[in-house]
Amino acid sequence: MPEIKLKSLSKSYDGKVDVLKAIDLTIKDGEFTVLVGPSGCGKSTTLRLLAGLETATGGSITVGGDDITGKAPKDRNMAMVFQNYALYPHMSVAENIGFSLKVDGVQKDNIKTRVAAVAKMLEIEELLERRPKDLSGGQRQRVAIGRAVVKDSDIFLFDEPLSNLDAALRGGMRVELSLLHQRLKKNMVYVTHDQVEAMTLGDKIIVMHDGIIQQAGTPEEIFTKPANKFVAGFIGNPTMNFLSAEIVEEHGIKYASGANFMIALPENATPRKDQKIILGIRPEDISFDDSSDLNVNILVAEYVGHHKNIVAQIGDAKINITAPVAQETTVGGSYKIKVDQNKLHLFDAESGEIV
Ligand SMILES: Nc1ncnc2c1ncn2[C@@H]1O[C@H](COP(=O)(O)OP(=O)(O)OP(=O)(O)O)[C@@H](O)[C@H]1O
Ligand SMILES: [Mg+2]
Repeated sequence: MPEIKLKSLSKSYDGKVDVLKAIDLTIKDGEFTVLVGPSGCGKSTTLRLLAGLETATGGSITVGGDDITGKAPKDRNMAMVFQNYALYPHMSVAENIGFSLKVDGVQKDNIKTRVAAVAKMLEIEELLERRPKDLSGGQRQRVAIGRAVVKDSDIFLFDEPLSNLDAALRGGMRVELSLLHQRLKKNMVYVTHDQVEAMTLGDKIIVMHDGIIQQAGTPEEIFTKPANKFVAGFIGNPTMNFLSAEIVEEHGIKYASGANFMIALPENATPRKDQKIILGIRPEDISFDDSSDLNVNILVAEYVGHHKNIVAQIGDAKINITAPVAQETTVGGSYKIKVDQNKLHLFDAESGEIV
């Protein structure tokens, strides 16, 4: 499969609003790439530029070395699945799936065979004669996906294809999309604002914010080594705790010192003495430990099945803690906690970049 390269790709509307600010991105051979970020960060715009539905203001897009920046959508060999399905209401499922082949002048028998194969793969064979209005949301979504995959495109683009489905269906369709990718072995670029979808589907995740790529990496890299405070706060549930602190040094050991807390940093910690930082701690990297000297007061303890979500007061800040169900928690009680020193994230207080 061809490699896709975006070079300094920019988009602005009416010459004023910079929606994409010179993004660089390489999508490798057969990769499942997920663009994730909050509403308005430029995900759909990136996808529409790739598909040729919008014109770039600057920069270029190449596929397998060919510059396609100015090419018409039909000459790009890409298929797109839109969030709102956009099925033709007056056509049956079979006609919807086969439509693009018919437009291309493919023979009737051939269309029938290919539609049947796609319907089998997506398990919608028994729905082929129905109209879209007689389908559930999940079934419509499958038809929309079927319509995209029936053509032998090089690249598949998905814009939040599961956002109209309920949680259970979304989980099921996620698995099917992974299987589809394994089967087709094509480049897929998938847009979502859902971090769980991004983490579970992506070989590679691109985190965007304000038209800028904040970080690109594997799900594990993004989670364990977030490049800045934005990425750290966006990925992870409950979200990472952020505590304002200053670096102090005592007996050769560096501490993050904040309002009524001191947390020792690992030996190799890079921030300099007196530097103002934001200390990032994931809720699951905190444990209760009576031998510690870090005090918290429990404000709320929620039992959520396989663990407890706890909100506690530390100094003048509130933190989230993920604790085992067996952990005794009395609301209003004073407890001692320990943080996993090797899993601390230190961000510069001003820039938010990792230090
Ligand atoms: N035709 C347009 N004219 C002016 N601004 C636009 C136009 N289309 C999009 N925008 C702006 O571009 C920015 C990025 O939009 P985009 O649709 O790419 O966001 P998104 O990341 O897909 O968000 P969402 O998660 O809400 O779908 C937004 O601020 C949006 O208002
Ligand atoms: Mg969008």
